[in-house]
Amino acid sequence: MNRKGIILAGGLGTRLFPLTRAISKQLLPVYDKPMVYYPLSTLMLAGIREVLIITTEQERPRFEQLLGDGSKLGMSLSYKVQSDPKGISEAFILGEEFIGNSSVTLVLGDNIFCGEGLESLLKNPELDTRGATVFAKEVAAPEKYGVVHQDENGKVIKLLEKPKEPPTNLAVTGLYFYDNDVVEIAKEVKPSHRGELEITDINNIYLEKEELHVSIFGEGVTWFDTGGFDALLEAACFVKEQQEKGFLVGAIEKIAYQNGWINHDQLQELCLSLEKSGYGHKIISL
Ligand code: DAU
Repeated sequence: MNRKGIILAGGLGTRLFPLTRAISKQLLPVYDKPMVYYPLSTLMLAGIREVLIITTEQERPRFEQLLGDGSKLGMSLSYKVQSDPKGISEAFILGEEFIGNSSVTLVLGDNIFCGEGLESLLKNPELDTRGATVFAKEVAAPEKYGVVHQDENGKVIKLLEKPKEPPTNLAVTGLYFYDNDVVEIAKEVKPSHRGELEITDINNIYLEKEELHVSIFGEGVTWFDTGGFDALLEAACFVKEQQEKGFLVGAIEKIAYQNGWINHDQLQELCLSLEKSGYGHKIISL
């Protein structure tokens, strides 16, 4: 089945002011790479080769400068502007033409996923036979996220967006797999009490149709929503630590090679241009 990917990398980044006053949050550094490398690497680990990056008008040229049309990675990257941050669900309306008849995976541009078992979870063929799949992770402060509400048997009853009194510690992460119905479903969603087109509303529509699967990430998968100062720093430290142990995180050049999308010569050429910072060398040596 053909599956396309969307990275939502717009928004005003006000929770990170003044860091993000002059530059997009998703271009900030997370240790040795711009933040957007990480969600892009997540889509690549899922085997997704065609990706739409949604950004603001002001930032679009910078993303294009960074990633181009994706051909150097053996991918196809395109760009779309979201003029106002009306909500995450708008990604599917803006992306309608790009999505066409395909299934689609959305990843939020400030979400970082890492873990040894991640790739096999994301390449699971069942993801293509279900209506929608979201991934949840146990967290200490669930009230900051979408939260999974379960009954006493563990059956999911509803997803709640930033509830004041979360019924569980299971936060819904910013990685969503949908079938093609998501485009029409997104058009039905009305702005919430906080004025946003909520992704949680889309997920609840799938749940009502009994087509939502909630998969829970275990200990083996690490997740960061880098929307705040502390998480941004923690994510950077985590990447540094992992890489010192020999595990590259978010290295899109390496994943492109491992996926067979570029050959050894192409990888070598990419790495040569990254040699001075030591980043290119890291990829080649690992
Ligand atoms: O990180 C996971 C959480 O992401 C989920 O648990 C929540 O259910 C979901 O609503 C979302 O919550 P956040 O409060 O973290 O969303 P935020 O407004 O920070 O937006 C997430 C990313 O999407 C951020 O990088 C900015 C971008 N964005 C957001 C909106 C609302 C856009 O590009 N356009 C938008 O209209």
